[in-house]
Amino acid sequence: MCGIVGYVGRPSGQVSTEHQALDVVLEGLRRLEYRGYDSAGIAVVADGAISSRKKSGKLSNLIAELEANPLPAATTGIGHTRWATHGGPTDQNAHPHLSDGGKLALIHNGIIENFAELKQELLEKGVTFQSETDTEVAAALLGDIYRNQLGGDKANGGLTKAMQLACQRLEGAFTLLAVHADQPDVVVAARRNSPLVVGLGEGENFLGSDVSGFIDYTRRAVELGQDQIVTITAESVEITDFFGAPAEGKEYHVNWDPASAEKGGFPSFMEKEIHDQPDAVLQTLLGRSDVDGKLTLDELRIDPDLLKSVDKIIVLACGTSAYAGQVAKYAIERWCRIPTEVELSHEFRYRDPIVDAQTLIVSISQSGETMDTLMAVRYAKEQGAKTVAICNTNGSTIPRESDAVLYTHAGPEIAVASTKAFLAQITAAYLLGLYLAQLRGNKFQGEIKDILSDLGKIPEKVQSILDDAARIKELGESMVDAKSVLFLGRHVGFPVAMEGALKLKELAYIHAEGFAAGELKHGPIALIEEGQPVFVVVPSPRGRDSLHAKVVSNIQEVRARGAKTIVIAEEGDDAVKAFAEHVIYIPETPTLLAPLLTTVPLQIFALALASAKGYDVDQPRNLAKSVTVE
Ligand code: F6R
Repeated sequence: MCGIVGYVGRPSGQVSTEHQALDVVLEGLRRLEYRGYDSAGIAVVADGAISSRKKSGKLSNLIAELEANPLPAATTGIGHTRWATHGGPTDQNAHPHLSDGGKLALIHNGIIENFAELKQELLEKGVTFQSETDTEVAAALLGDIYRNQLGGDKANGGLTKAMQLACQRLEGAFTLLAVHADQPDVVVAARRNSPLVVGLGEGENFLGSDVSGFIDYTRRAVELGQDQIVTITAESVEITDFFGAPAEGKEYHVNWDPASAEKGGFPSFMEKEIHDQPDAVLQTLLGRSDVDGKLTLDELRIDPDLLKSVDKIIVLACGTSAYAGQVAKYAIERWCRIPTEVELSHEFRYRDPIVDAQTLIVSISQSGETMDTLMAVRYAKEQGAKTVAICNTNGSTIPRESDAVLYTHAGPEIAVASTKAFLAQITAAYLLGLYLAQLRGNKFQGEIKDILSDLGKIPEKVQSILDDAARIKELGESMVDAKSVLFLGRHVGFPVAMEGALKLKELAYIHAEGFAAGELKHGPIALIEEGQPVFVVVPSPRGRDSLHAKVVSNIQEVRARGAKTIVIAEEGDDAVKAFAEHVIYIPETPTLLAPLLTTVPLQIFALALASAKGYDVDQPRNLAKSVTVE
């Protein structure tokens, strides 16, 4: 939710400057645009003044504005790409917001919860506002403190001190970055419950919502803690808490390269990421078991005795990640015999859940920054539960605040709609389930080895679906006029059906619903009319016979009422042919692992249909990649 970049390089004239702030900030915004694309803006400090440009709409609008009205050369700058919360996506509401007579510029990610009260206070002091945003209130507060409380005097601590004092007054979640014309070689930033990382360069330093904001320039990053302020210059990085006490960040090396965040020849990030999936699964499995199938999850630093005593697992996640959790529930319960609930993070805290020291909380989050999930994890920790994060983003907040983390190694996921992270999350959750089964003796080592061996075959099977995607694409393109598409599944196919529907909603803006096939006759079957497209995820006929037969009956029920059925079935399942308009075959695989395959055609279908409609599949309307507000 909102992308933020900051940069300070050596001032020109003093020592040679390699980079211009404008170039660094724009490159960072380009990489962070997936976090929000309602508007974008930039401010630089040059010639003793702030110069800024901002524009509603995508970053390309800002770039056009900069071409028409160039900014002066500068080595200090901040930039923002917005996902609107307070105030619509207009030029006026775009960041940066200025204060102190135009000498201070501020950008913000998050929500200032007490902005109304602060605004009233500032209005009474005669401050006027141009936008409807909470950010402008924070900018005005910072400017007021800098000018009126500290006398605009660097000797009183300048912008850093003003930021500390402002943060003491702010409630909510925020990452703030500020520059001031009086301190042309400084960017000051603060974070509470919202992401911010520092990039360390040679004679230049960077700030970003995540490392992609500066990955083109450095791989050395510093994680900031909660409630910290950081002041960067070209040569220094100083961290304090909100009260000025010195604090430390944790340095780490970013181990993915900029190329992995590029499209790699595909027309969209989403298509590239769908094609990354064999590798995402492979990388997530890699190095986590030995030849005998013994799992060694080194990152799980929770006392094994504690894991043995777990009597309940609660999976916390949102959206696609929650569907990964729902898939994993079937496997974890089957392999470990531990009752497992899957709860949408935002619902969890508000229902007085039963959580204690014997509860294992497994959060699943691609970004590791989803505020709903973070808050749910914190709540569970307060109740004494142990917390494990399944996460794709190194150094992000949820794994940092959890007792242990199991990283999915899917690589950066840039397209807003999640694809490869989903497969990697299921894979990681399965590893966790098998590890618990191993630890608790629920499965023989040989059984675990067999399942791992089946998991090891998934990458090539996913690849075979990708190699044979032409028909699925054609199908998607042919359904460009569909008004509604339904998805049915049973058992592990149920969350897959919901994921298929979600992909279609968010990419193609078509009404789509995923149902448990058995639920159909309890109401949803009323939706079926002549020509209604219905996808059906059919379980393997080699699995529980009755399940396959029941889903085949469900297909017949909808078909009898005029539905056009598109069936995803296992190779060799001839029984479904008679009842399907189209059959998409996937390679044979054990039932519990099937979601790693059956999801892929649904992703390809949604991508093809949305592309045929001419929509931006990487940045669908109204969405943002990382939802850092509640
Ligand atoms: C859908 C999608 C979202 C995310 C959800 C959770 O394609 O991407 O539903 O899965 O917002 O995000 P993370 O996994 O980052 O916590």
